Order: sequence, then structure tokens, then C-alpha cells
Amino acid sequence: MNSAVHEQNNEIIALMRDFVDYVKDFYEHLSDYPVIRSADAKVLERVSRQTIPDAERPLCEVYQELLQDVYSNTLLAQHPRSFSCIPSTASLLSWMGDVMTNAFNPHDSCWINAPAIALIEQKLIRWMCDLAGYPEEGGGLFVSGASMANLTALTAARDARLHWDERNIAVIYVSEQTHASVSKGLHIIGFDRSQIRVIPADADFRMDMECLAQAVAEDLRIGKRPFAVVASVGTTNTGSIDPLTEIAALCRRYDMWMHIDGAFGASALLSEQQRKNLAGIAYSDSLSWDAHKWMMQTYGCGMVLVRNQATLVHSFAAHPEYLRDSESGGTGIEFWDLGPELTRPARCLKLWLTLQVMGAKKMGEVIDHACNLAQLVEWEIDKLPDWEIVSHAQLGIVNFRYAPAGTDESERNAWNRRISKEITAGGFAQVFTTELHDKTVLRMCTINPQTTESDILNTIRNFVILAGSI
Ligand SMILES: Cc1ncc(COP(=O)(O)O)c(C=O)c1O
Repeated sequence: MNSAVHEQNNEIIALMRDFVDYVKDFYEHLSDYPVIRSADAKVLERVSRQTIPDAERPLCEVYQELLQDVYSNTLLAQHPRSFSCIPSTASLLSWMGDVMTNAFNPHDSCWINAPAIALIEQKLIRWMCDLAGYPEEGGGLFVSGASMANLTALTAARDARLHWDERNIAVIYVSEQTHASVSKGLHIIGFDRSQIRVIPADADFRMDMECLAQAVAEDLRIGKRPFAVVASVGTTNTGSIDPLTEIAALCRRYDMWMHIDGAFGASALLSEQQRKNLAGIAYSDSLSWDAHKWMMQTYGCGMVLVRNQATLVHSFAAHPEYLRDSESGGTGIEFWDLGPELTRPARCLKLWLTLQVMGAKKMGEVIDHACNLAQLVEWEIDKLPDWEIVSHAQLGIVNFRYAPAGTDESERNAWNRRISKEITAGGFAQVFTTELHDKTVLRMCTINPQTTESDILNTIRNFVILAGSI
């Protein structure tokens, strides 16, 4: 090896040893950090002054710069008091899997490139298909996240249910609580907004079955082709689960594809307590599931599962001449035949490592812990005279608001926005608002396994103090 490269490699390894200690310290004291560490004006000024240099720079200097100015100024989505959006639950085990995988950089596109990795991916996909209740023909693959999983599954739905000349009259049904990535995906695969029917949600934020049945009947009457329904297991706003078995029955009756966006909620299949609420997943045609949401993985770890893997092959298989020598065997189907990507990182390995070390039972307990904490929030808010629960604790999400009697709606909305801004700006906890049936509410997603009961109680205490200062 060239001696300059050898010398640089030594320096890289020394810095990485230092980095490992830095990471250990960071995770051990995570709870003491403010939940958002925003870059101040000086840092942004330093970063914006930088250019791509012509000449070399010392590695150590670039390393320190990145550590101080870039990595240190982010929202800490994995902080135990980060309750906004779907917070990260990433564990050091997943990080270790990431580091190991990235060091070897396997090209996880086909069997011949990395047969043991391919086996592991297939095993994980099979295990998840079993949890979902899919038959032998089921399958799927790892993708970057639920947005890609939704896009991939909806492509399969379109190709399985529609003839080319039916695409213009096709309609698909989502609920008012369906995640925006679904309509984005539909747009990408060629559907117009007017082809998406948004079905109202009931008082529990579940797709209203009567409205859905009426919409399908009306579309048939006017000559449209209803071809798919997108149900959610764990809506982003409230954690609600759509009426899966009823939706499945309607889909069967009208030959519609049933897709489930289980981005965060599908992980509840691992919980003994929650699994019964998700039983209808078994009737669906496809399922999106993110391990980077509730299975303690770093970002970029999602899965798309289908009831029949042949539907993915039908939509995505390609056999260009430059890949012929890599089409080896194994099952005869390569990962590039199952989705839009060719080059893929081995996303499955960090999840494999995590599950091997933790075991699936403990992962189920992570789900239960989150649901119990959301229930605790609900009980505590219920005790406060001027506060109301707007959406009950479901799959680790609960929505509530400060709403003293005799005040008007616009005042309440403004106060809850202010409480959210102030608690987040103070750095103690991150809690964002959302809107439910025209009310601005505070939303807490309590899925981080490091979150304790005292994190919850102290956050609620802070709400009360902030509301008292209004
Ligand atoms: C229900 C639901 N679907 C899809 C997504 C998009 O997932 P991703 O960000 O992994 O693409 C999210 C993200 O929060 C979600 O909550």
C-alpha cells in the first residue's frame, strides 16, 4: 500500500477511536442535553464561509470542524423527551450495525454479491410476513423508509389491479388522516389529485366505513374503477388504527387492493398486548413498515411487504445485459426485481444485529412501554381541570390541550401553540402541535424506550407552569 494512504488510514483509525468515546459519552448523558441544539449565528457564518478547497486540508481539522459545527447542532430526535413527529428510537446497537455495514459497503442488490446478507434479508422479511399473517407466497424487501414502501406497494397495486386503459378512470381511497407520502407516491406513479378520494375520519380518527362504502358505490355508478384502499395502522396524528377487517371485506367485494401504511404502527405486531388490534393486517395485500420508527433503528430502515411477492416482480423485474452475469440463482429473484432501487446498502443487517442481541420479546416490551407512557400522559392530563384530552392514547400517541372553560377557540389554539413553542425553545422537551377536527392540540408521541415516567411527569409539570403564565 502507498505509504501516504497507510499514514492517513492510521490517522483515520486514531480519530475513530476518539469518536467512539465521544459517542459513548454523548449517549450516556443524552438526557442532560437540551432537546434541540440549534446552530448559533457564528457557527452558521463559519459553515457558510466554507467552500470546496482546491488544496488538501488536515483530516484532524475537518474532523473537529464537523464535530463542533455540524453534528453538534441538530435536533435530538433520539432524546428521551423528544415527543414530536415520530421521534427516533435508534439504539447504539443499530449504530454499531450501521458502522459495521458501512465499513464493508456491500452492494445488496442481488444474491451473488452477498449471499449471506441476502439470506438474512429474506429471513427478516419472512419473519415479518409471518407476523403480518401473510401466506408462503408473501415477500418484500428493505427500502429507505415508509415513503418508499408506500410508493413501491402502490405501484404493485396499480399494475395488479388496473389494465393500462383503466388508469384514467381509476380511483383510490385514503382517509383524512392518511400520511402525505401516500398522495405523493400516487402522484409519482401517475395519478392525478382528482383520482384520490379523501374519506372523513370518525370521532376516533379512524376511516369512516359508511362514507367509504358510499364513495365506492358512487364511483361505480359514474363509471369509475375503484382499485385500492389505503388503510393506516398508526396514523401520524393520533396513532389510530383504521377498521381493517371491514376495509378488507369491501376490498374483496370490489376487487380492490388493500394497502396498509403501518410505518410506525406495524411494529406493534411484536407486542402481546397490542397484536390483537392489528389482526386485520392479515387480509391486506401490502404493508409498509419502518424499523427506523419503533424498532430502534437509525434512519434508512424501512420495509415493504406484499401478500404475493410475484406482484412486486410483475412491476419491477428488469434484466439488462450488464446485469446478466450477476443473475445467479438462489431463488432466481434478485432484490432489484422487487423494487425501484438497484444499488442498495444492506439495511437489514443493523436490524438483524439488534434483534439477535435483544430478542423479539424485549422489542415487544419496548412497544408496551411506549403505550403505557401515552396512557400515563392521558391519566395525568385528565386530572387537570383546565385541560382536555382530544384523542385518547393509541399506540404511543396522545393529543390534548389547554382549554379553560369560557374561553374561545381561537384563544385556545393560540395558547397551545405558545405552550408548544415555549417548552421546545426552553430545551426541556420537544412537543409540537397538530390540528384535529379544527382544534390546535399538543401531541405527544412517547415511543422512546429511554423515556421514563418522571420525564413524562416533569413535561406535564412544565405544561402547567407555562399555561399558568399565560
Ligand atoms: C404513517 C406514516 N406513513 C409514512 C411516513 C413516512 O415515513 P418515512 O419518513 O420513513 O418515509 C410516516 C412518517 O412519519 C408516517 O408516520
